[in-house]
Amino acid sequence: MLRVGLLGAGRIGIVHAKAISSHPDSRLVAVSDAVAESAEKLALQYQCRHCSTDEIIADPDIDAILIASPTNTHSDLMEAATAAGKAVLCEKPVDLSLQRARACQKVVANRSTPIMIGFNRRFDPSLAGLKAAADRGEIGKAELLSIHSFDPSPPPIEYVRVSGGLFRDMMIHDFDMANFIMGDVPESIIAVGSSIVDPEIGAAGDVDTAVATLSYSDGRIAVIKNSRRAVYGYDQRVELLGSEGLLQVNNVIENSMVKSTSAGVVSARPTYFFLERYMPAYEAEWTAFVAAVTSGSPVPVSLDDGVDALAMAEAATRSAQSGLSVKLADVN
Ligand SMILES: NC(=O)c1ccc[n+]([C@@H]2O[C@H](COP(=O)([O-])OP(=O)(O)OC[C@H]3O[C@@H](n4cnc5c(N)ncnc54)[C@H](O)[C@@H]3O)[C@@H](O)[C@H]2O)c1
Repeated sequence: MLRVGLLGAGRIGIVHAKAISSHPDSRLVAVSDAVAESAEKLALQYQCRHCSTDEIIADPDIDAILIASPTNTHSDLMEAATAAGKAVLCEKPVDLSLQRARACQKVVANRSTPIMIGFNRRFDPSLAGLKAAADRGEIGKAELLSIHSFDPSPPPIEYVRVSGGLFRDMMIHDFDMANFIMGDVPESIIAVGSSIVDPEIGAAGDVDTAVATLSYSDGRIAVIKNSRRAVYGYDQRVELLGSEGLLQVNNVIENSMVKSTSAGVVSARPTYFFLERYMPAYEAEWTAFVAAVTSGSPVPVSLDDGVDALAMAEAATRSAQSGLSVKLADVN
C-alpha cells in the first residue's frame, strides 16, 4: 500500500485526493495547504491527517508525495521531497522559470526516487488510443498534427497575473501532447498571440488567443490553436494526418442525443471544462504512477518531459513577442 501525502488542497488537489483514495493500492494519509482550513476540510472528507508541508515531507511513514500547490512552488518541493526519499507526482508545469526547472533537473538527477509530471492528457483513453494507433502505423507515416484547445471562458484576472502566461500555463498541455504523439521535440516554433477576448488580459501582459506552428527536423509539422473563450464549451480536438489516413479525437459531449428537424441537426455541447472532460485521465494517470512506483519501472512522464514542454513554452513566448521563429536549441 502506497502511503501518500498531498501538498495543496485547491482545485486540482481535490481531484487527486479522490483518485488516491479510490485506488486499491494507495492511501491518502496527510494533506497540507498554505490555507490551513482548506487542508482541514479535505482531510476531514478523506479521514486523514492535516499538517504542514514540511511535516509531510519529513514523515518517514509517507512513501509518495503529490504536489498540487501553485507552479512557483514546484521545483523547491520536488527537490525537498526527493531528498527525503519520496516518490513524487508533480502537477504541470515544472516551474514558471525554465532556468529554475533546469536547475531542479540537475539537483534531482542522481536521486533514486522517481518524479512524474502531471500531463494527464496522455492518459485520456481517446488520446492514448490515437497515439497507439499512430505507433502501430495505422495511418502510415505521420505528417501533420493539429491540436485545438479552447477553454469555455477566461480565468479570473488574478490567476492570469501569476500564471506565467498562456504558453506556459495553457498551451503547455498541447506542447506535451505534440511531443507525446510525434515522439520527438520540434526543431523550431513560431507563434502569434493576441488579447482579443479580454483587454484586461492584454493589460496584464498576456494573450488569450494564440497559434503555434511546430517544425520538426524530418519535415513534419504540428499546429496548436488555443483560445481562452469558446462560448459552446470546452473544445478539445486532435487530428493526425498521415500518408495512409487520418486519426481524429473529437469532443466528449454532455449526452449523445441528436435532434434532426427541418431546421437542422443539433447535438449536445462539449462537457464543461477540464475536470469533467479529463476525469478518467486523472484516474488513469494516478494508476500509472502507482504501478510504476510499486513495480520499480520508469514513470511514464518524466521530469525531462516536463522541462521539454516548458522550453517549448519559452520558445513560443519569445516568438510571439519578437515575431520571429525560435529554434529550441537556442532556448536556455
Ligand atoms: N493537470 C491539470 O489539468 C491541471 C489543472 C489545474 C491546475 N493544474 C496545476 O496544478 C497546480 C495548482 O493549481 P490549482 O488550480 O489547483 O490552484 P489552486 O490555487 O486552486 O490550489 C493551490 C493550493 O495550494 C495551496 N498552497 C500554496 N502553497 C503551498 C505549499 N507550499 N504547500 C501546500 N499547499 C500550498 C494554496 O493555498 C491553494 O489552496 C498549478 O501548478 C496548476 O498549473 C493542473
